[in-house]
Amino acid sequence: MQVPATVDRVQIFDTTLRDGEQSPGASMNLEEKLQMAEVLCQLKVDVIECGFPASSEGDFQAVRAIAEAISGPTLAGLSRCRSDDIVRTHQALKAAPRHRAHLFLATSPIHREYKLKMNREEVLNCLREGISLARDLFDEVEFSAEDASRTEVDFLCEAISEAIHAGATIINIPDTVGYAVPQQFGNLIRTIKEKVPNIDKALLSVHCHNDLGLAVANSLAALEAGARQVECTVNGIGERAGNCALEEIVMALRTRRDYFGLDTGVEASGLYYASQMLSRIIGSPVQRNKAVVGANAFAHEAGIHQHGVLMNPLTYEVMRPEDVGRSGSSMILGKHSGRHAFHYWLEERGIHCTEMQFEEAFNAFKRLCDHKKHAEEDELLAIVRDLVQVAPASHLRESHQLAR
Ligand code: KIV
Ligand code: ZN
Repeated sequence: MQVPATVDRVQIFDTTLRDGEQSPGASMNLEEKLQMAEVLCQLKVDVIECGFPASSEGDFQAVRAIAEAISGPTLAGLSRCRSDDIVRTHQALKAAPRHRAHLFLATSPIHREYKLKMNREEVLNCLREGISLARDLFDEVEFSAEDASRTEVDFLCEAISEAIHAGATIINIPDTVGYAVPQQFGNLIRTIKEKVPNIDKALLSVHCHNDLGLAVANSLAALEAGARQVECTVNGIGERAGNCALEEIVMALRTRRDYFGLDTGVEASGLYYASQMLSRIIGSPVQRNKAVVGANAFAHEAGIHQHGVLMNPLTYEVMRPEDVGRSGSSMILGKHSGRHAFHYWLEERGIHCTEMQFEEAFNAFKRLCDHKKHAEEDELLAIVRDLVQVAPASHLRESHQLAR
């Protein structure tokens, strides 16, 4: 792998506790939010968005508890561009060693007309006033032009310029409804960099939703175009189809550093633990084929793949499972498996047999797999027990993970 001479740092803004928690079935109580904030802190994300303090008393209390307990990452709170929201957000976050107001206001025509009932000038006035107030209260101010990807580009550039002028030092471009496609979204970021005269005074951020399954791809396109903060969530949870998945964006940048020349400060070896912890807290299992953290992400059943991975894992894996905190690849013995994996399974358990015994056991295993999706450990042991001198169960190695 060719590593580029300079590697730029991308800020990871985690919004699991805010946008993530807003998704149906993902609500967390105060203790659970605190526990998850601790996990995010250990992951070394740059920013934790702790919640939306003005949205409910529960959220206010949770954000305040996190601000009192967590140090390391910058702690952010979401707020509308309204003075009462901004003051409430500050009350919740004031104990944080470093706090950020995350102000949002929709800029797209459909939101201006149907939701805000504001014209362009009123939107600009509202964001200017909100940012000016927040600038006096917070260490830093981020402004999000909600539904940016469906906003007229000239007006979006004007709003961004005004936001920076009013004191925002982080400008977030949300693809609020997951409508953008990668090349177009990357071009939008390039246009903003070209057309907004004071853009060099702000960090450019993106926040992509996954309605078309493109949240990670759009975020990567934006980074390629010059954005340097990504908003994301553990397991990609979030409104509707979710947000850009933290584990996917982090591992895409790390695995393809040769291509992007970018990296994050995230401790990748904590990714699997964070995913499992969130899944337990919200009671929602991780999809089996989920990239990086799903049960199948490093599992192999097909004989040709198993043979390749046993020879050299890089034949069919682009990351090492240990790098994301998993114990190793796994060989699933099923109807697609071949002799190599079956032999490996026997060896791992210290089971020795003659060639003839092996053939008999392998054929019995294949017959079993004609009726089942995959063979369980006990069923395999039962097959070989009659044919081979099997060591007592306690002497068998417990795991059939692929050791490296
Ligand atoms: O999706 C969105 O636009 C948001 C903003 C509040 C950043 O979540
Ligand atoms: Zn969002």
